[in-house]
Amino acid sequence: MQKRGPFIFTIPPLTDDEFNAIRRLVYKKSGIYLTEEKRDLVRSRLGKILRRRGIPSFREYYRMVISDDSGKMLVELLDAISTNFTYLFREKDHFEFLKNVVIPQCASKKRIKIWSAGCSSGEEPYSIAITLLENIRDIKNWDVKILATDISTRVLEKAIRGIYKAEQLSAIPRATLRKYFLRGKGHWVNYYKVKPEVKSVIEFKRLNLLEPFPFKTMFDVIFCRNVMIYFDRPTKEDLVRRFTDCLVPGGYLFIGHSESLMGMKHNLKYIKPAIYQKVE
Ligand SMILES: C[S@@+](CC[C@H](N)C(=O)[O-])C[C@H]1O[C@@H](n2cnc3c(N)ncnc32)[C@H](O)[C@@H]1O
Repeated sequence: MQKRGPFIFTIPPLTDDEFNAIRRLVYKKSGIYLTEEKRDLVRSRLGKILRRRGIPSFREYYRMVISDDSGKMLVELLDAISTNFTYLFREKDHFEFLKNVVIPQCASKKRIKIWSAGCSSGEEPYSIAITLLENIRDIKNWDVKILATDISTRVLEKAIRGIYKAEQLSAIPRATLRKYFLRGKGHWVNYYKVKPEVKSVIEFKRLNLLEPFPFKTMFDVIFCRNVMIYFDRPTKEDLVRRFTDCLVPGGYLFIGHSESLMGMKHNLKYIKPAIYQKVE
C-alpha cells in the first residue's frame, strides 16, 4: 500500500482583487474598515480557515462565503477578522465614574441598566458587574441589568465561560479576586472562574452593531470602548445617534480613551475624556 505523506498546506497569495472583495464584504457586514496595512493580517487569519477547510484560494473562499445561505461562513470570517484585545478594569477612570457619579445618580430609582457594546471575551461586563456589586449595598432591592454583546461568537463563548488565567487577573486586589472568582483545582490551578452571582446580572448576546438593535431597553450607561476605532466616520455617526436614542436622559456613553467624537455630528454633552452625556 502506498504511504501518504503529511498534508502540507501553503496559504495561497491574496491578490488585490481578492483583498478588495473581502474588505468590501467585511465593511458592508460589520462596519470594520480594513486598511491596506491589514492585508497580511487578513491573509494570515483567513488563511487558517482555508487550511482547516481545505480551500485552495481566497477567490474560492470568497465565493463560498457569499453563497452560504446559512450565514455561518460569514460569522466565521468576521470572528477571524475582529480584534478582541481587552482586559479586566481596562481604562479604570470609567469604573471610578460609575462608582462616584452614575451609581449615586441611579440611587433614588434603584434601577441601573448598562450595555457593554463590543464586550469581547467578557472582561468589560464582568468589571462593570463587580463595580456594581461592590458599590451598591442593597443591590438585591435594585433592578440591575448588564447587557453584553459582540459580533464574534468565538469571544462570546469565552465570555460566557468566564474562565481567565491567573496572570490576566494580576491587577485585581486579592480580596476582590477571592470575593468574585473561584480558583481552579488540580489541572486548573492557574485559572479563575467568575462566580455565579457576578454572572447572574449579565445577559450575553450576539449582536452586530450595524444592524437594528433588537430591544427597547433604555440604558443609564453604554460602554462602547475600542470598537468604533475600526469604523469610518459615517458609520460612527450613525451608531452614536442610535446609542443616544437608547440612553435615558442624563445617561452616559463611554468610549475608549484613544477615541473621540470630535468633529462628529452628535447630541451628547462632553463631560470628560471618553465620557459623554445625553442632556435632559
Ligand atoms: C478591541 S475589542 C474591545 C473590547 C472592550 N470593549 C474593551 O474596550 O476592552 C473590540 C470588540 O468589538 C467587536 N466588534 C467589532 N465590530 C463589531 C460590530 N460591527 N458589532 C459588534 N461588535 C463588534 C469585536 O468583535 C471585538 O470583540
